[in-house]
Amino acid sequence: FQTNGKRIRPALLLLCSKLLGYKGKEHILMSTLVEAIHTASLIHDDIIDNSKIRRGKESIHARWGPNITVLLGDYLYIKALGLSLQSKHRQIIQILTSISARMVEGELTEYYLSGNLELAEKDYLDIINKKTASLFSASCRIGGILGKASKKEENYLAEYGANLGMSFQIIDDLLDFTGDEKTLGKPILCDLSEGRITLPLIYTLNNDGRENKKRVIELLKQKNQDRESLEEILKIVKSNGALDYTHKKAEEFSHKSREIISQFPKSAQQEALSLLSEFILKR
Ligand code: IPE
Ligand code: IPE
Ligand code: MG
Ligand code: MG
Repeated sequence: FQTNGKRIRPALLLLCSKLLGYKGKEHILMSTLVEAIHTASLIHDDIIDNSKIRRGKESIHARWGPNITVLLGDYLYIKALGLSLQSKHRQIIQILTSISARMVEGELTEYYLSGNLELAEKDYLDIINKKTASLFSASCRIGGILGKASKKEENYLAEYGANLGMSFQIIDDLLDFTGDEKTLGKPILCDLSEGRITLPLIYTLNNDGRENKKRVIELLKQKNQDRESLEEILKIVKSNGALDYTHKKAEEFSHKSREIISQFPKSAQQEALSLLSEFILKR
């Protein structure tokens, strides 16, 4: 079971600050804060998604109910943003507050569009850009700002992070179809059962033949699908190239991120960031 968070966002912040040769201490606090913001978003996300398991354990929502969970998430957000005021960099405080709002916008849009079988790939990409890539990007940008990156370097790091985040979320959505519940620390086929339309399904609805498409829509429109219906959708998605297509999309974003990070001079950090782009595809 995966029982700890992977702590990817703080790792990005630390690596990016060191990539630029940062020698101070602020990176420790800042990396803690991006992880706290991420955790707050997951605490709320499990209410929205009705998820009972997180990191291999009962989710806070499942254990304590929505009331306590909302308050705990709020508390963590506010503590994190409050602590960010200690930063010497006004820009960092601005980034953390604006991306926290952006992530909520992503979650809101996703919720609003859930069950909409006409969701286009570009709408999906916009949602994951807001809910996931924005924090990846901010973590890298903040590392850069601490390391006194030039504006150009800072933008490169932000773009590296954004592409990495896109790739990461696409793979995460793919794993909802193909993953192993034990290693993931969360159950699979949740997006389907909660009406969240992700890339494998978007591909299926746009590219599979009439019969399969009709059947998938019929199954999705059922209230409270049983395991059998979900498995039937899974079988169709597995048969039409949707999973390959989705993986290819993730590869494109991952390659873009590697291309960007390769512009920086060789160093242990640069290599680690490049390997991270590769590793993300192999989860
Ligand atoms: C989960 O993020 C939410 C997504 C963006 C898919 P992580 O997979 O980074 O979660 P933890 O922190 O490792 O549990
Ligand atoms: C996680 O998104 C929440 C944010 C990125 C804000 P998901 O709902 O897609 O991730 P999991 O599957 O619950 O980890
Ligand atoms: Mg969600
Ligand atoms: Mg979720």
